[in-house]
Amino acid sequence: MSKEYSSLLSELREKLVSCSSQHDLANIKSHYLGRKGVISNEFIKLRTASTEERKILGGKLNALKDEAQKLIASKASELSVSVDCNEKTDISLPGSNIYLGSRHPVNLTINKIIDILRNYGFETVDGFEIEDEFHNFDALNIPASHPARDMHDTFYISDDKLLRTHTSSVQIRSMLSSSPPLRIMTPGKVYRSDSDPTHSPMFHQIEGLCIDKNINFCHLKSLLSTFITELFGRDMDIRFRPSYFPFTEPSAELDIKFNGKWLEVLGCGMVHPNVLSNVKIDSKKYSGFAFGLGIERLAMLQYGITDLRMFYENDLSFLSQFKGLK
Ligand code: PHE
Repeated sequence: MSKEYSSLLSELREKLVSCSSQHDLANIKSHYLGRKGVISNEFIKLRTASTEERKILGGKLNALKDEAQKLIASKASELSVSVDCNEKTDISLPGSNIYLGSRHPVNLTINKIIDILRNYGFETVDGFEIEDEFHNFDALNIPASHPARDMHDTFYISDDKLLRTHTSSVQIRSMLSSSPPLRIMTPGKVYRSDSDPTHSPMFHQIEGLCIDKNINFCHLKSLLSTFITELFGRDMDIRFRPSYFPFTEPSAELDIKFNGKWLEVLGCGMVHPNVLSNVKIDSKKYSGFAFGLGIERLAMLQYGITDLRMFYENDLSFLSQFKGLK
């Protein structure tokens, strides 16, 4: 490299040492490497040199250009690292906005119910969404001829495996694995072959089960009446209407009056002695009650939602209306 070229390089090195910002670096870069910069100028001067000189100086000039590019690139990466460091440590910078979602109305309703029932001594129990016929039907006193066992109502996976049609199957598993007294609640997804604006093939249920000595229908009635008042935050017009479920006897449905109309909200009853004997509980010593309700239906009533499908569409303008609720 000629003397002149090597002094250009040391001058560039000095400038880079004292350069401390991206802005200054951009200026240095354009001064040396820009189209009208110092190095381009030297290339222009070469045009008038002799062929011999051009050969020698051309090589040296190219080496100078390469070196200058390397020095500038390494300074650039040094500066960007230090800029990053500054950003990380500058705690005075305003934070970036974090978008907070909202709880889903189905979860809001489940949590609310769990909170109320927990205060009555009920414990949450999880079960399986894929069940067998024994836990979903047979043990619950649902005969083989019952229409609920039909393919049109139940999603079968194989001859014996199915998607649970209710969370009552969890009650069977709990009664088989632990002995009374028992107070459990079973929130979860259930599946039925049904789909229209008021029915979905998957929906959520929560069931309650209480087994102890001397439990009678009065306990069931008083618990559910208090539960409804707590859930809606005020006294509601309710009625218990006689009904039928294979796994409870006697059975009832609880209706609530909304705008002058009775709406069915939950099923309940005293656990059938056949169910107790299926899970090896002595029905002479113990009795119990059970109740089950559909979460979506309650959420629709509570929040004034008119179409069940809104729960599953993930429409943010719908979901954001529940912001801040717990
Ligand atoms: N398992 C019933 C259903 O899915 C609800 C129910 C539970 C009714 C417990 C009575 C007692 O509709």
